[in-house]
Amino acid sequence: MILSIESSCDDSSLALTEIKSKKLIWHKKISQEQEHSKFGGVVPELASRLHAVALPKLLEEIKEYLDTLKAIAVTTNPGLSVTLNEGVIMAKGVATFRGISIIPVNHLKAHIYSLFINKNTFFPLLVLLISGGHTMIIKAKNITDMEILATSLDDSIGEAFDKVAKMLGLGYPGGPIVEEKAKKGDEERFNFPIPLRNSPLLAFSLSGLKNAVRVEIEKLGGKENLTQEDICDICASFQKAVTIHLLQKTKKILKKEPIKDIALVGGVSANLYIREKLEQVLKTFNKRLLTPSLEFCSDNAAMVGRYGIDAFEKKIFVDPKNLKVFPTKKLKIGEKL
Ligand code: KG4
Ligand code: ZN
Repeated sequence: MILSIESSCDDSSLALTEIKSKKLIWHKKISQEQEHSKFGGVVPELASRLHAVALPKLLEEIKEYLDTLKAIAVTTNPGLSVTLNEGVIMAKGVATFRGISIIPVNHLKAHIYSLFINKNTFFPLLVLLISGGHTMIIKAKNITDMEILATSLDDSIGEAFDKVAKMLGLGYPGGPIVEEKAKKGDEERFNFPIPLRNSPLLAFSLSGLKNAVRVEIEKLGGKENLTQEDICDICASFQKAVTIHLLQKTKKILKKEPIKDIALVGGVSANLYIREKLEQVLKTFNKRLLTPSLEFCSDNAAMVGRYGIDAFEKKIFVDPKNLKVFPTKKLKIGEKL
């Protein structure tokens, strides 16, 4: 069995995955959304303190499995260093005490492996990774060869959803709330600018669009004066603009890339509007869409464990003495994850 630990942001999560069958045996996460909601976003120090309480609680629940562990997979980067550290401290403690190996896990690779939970591994893939921390297109050939083809110049898509929700006073995390409101809205009412529409750049940018939403809210008299109809129309028009932006840049890559299987992963991949629009485009390119089950789109330890299974086979281990967290750095086009 592999024990996996995820604490890169505001979800404390542990999972157990069986090495031979690749089956997810146990998985649980304790979300901190409510605690951060009143601040309109994640407060790193608070997140770290909450992990320090939640992770041992989860470990206690699976103590009868500790004898069966062969390795521990733990998220080491990218993420908030103070929260990553909580998972790493636990991994070091358990691994040293039990004399087992540690598998360091890149969080973005783990999101890609969310596709394979209770399934076989499947490459090559062209991956659209859209989360709270990242917006990327990745060419994934195998566990160690994952190349960045496009990335965001500023905010990520998830961050933009969260900021729009905050401007509208809708709470955190904003993505699911904005999607719900958008269902009742008129996406044609506001003509928000599509980012980098006439630019040949293979990149994403969300800050201009976010600003356009801010200006529109001000024109309507500020968030206090918005009607429910205004809010739903803003959410729908914003979601539409984000989706057109994502699809425009994706199409540029689809024209060049022969890979047949296109994956959508990361927290925002739970958005059914984006899934549906992407699927329509992929049909015209004769490509296939792969998505994780809704339960495993946002951060979780099950995906970390599933990566851990393949890493275990390849003996991708790190000595506990050398286990470190890597705070988020700006990843560039052409770099490998
Ligand atoms: O992958 P994730 O759990 O954390 C990071 O690695 O960043 O992604 C969280 C992000 C948040 O910004 C959240 O608002 C967004 O995913 N999200 C959504 C939806 N569900 C979660 N965005 C749009 N529509 C959704 N249904
Ligand atoms: Zn994530």
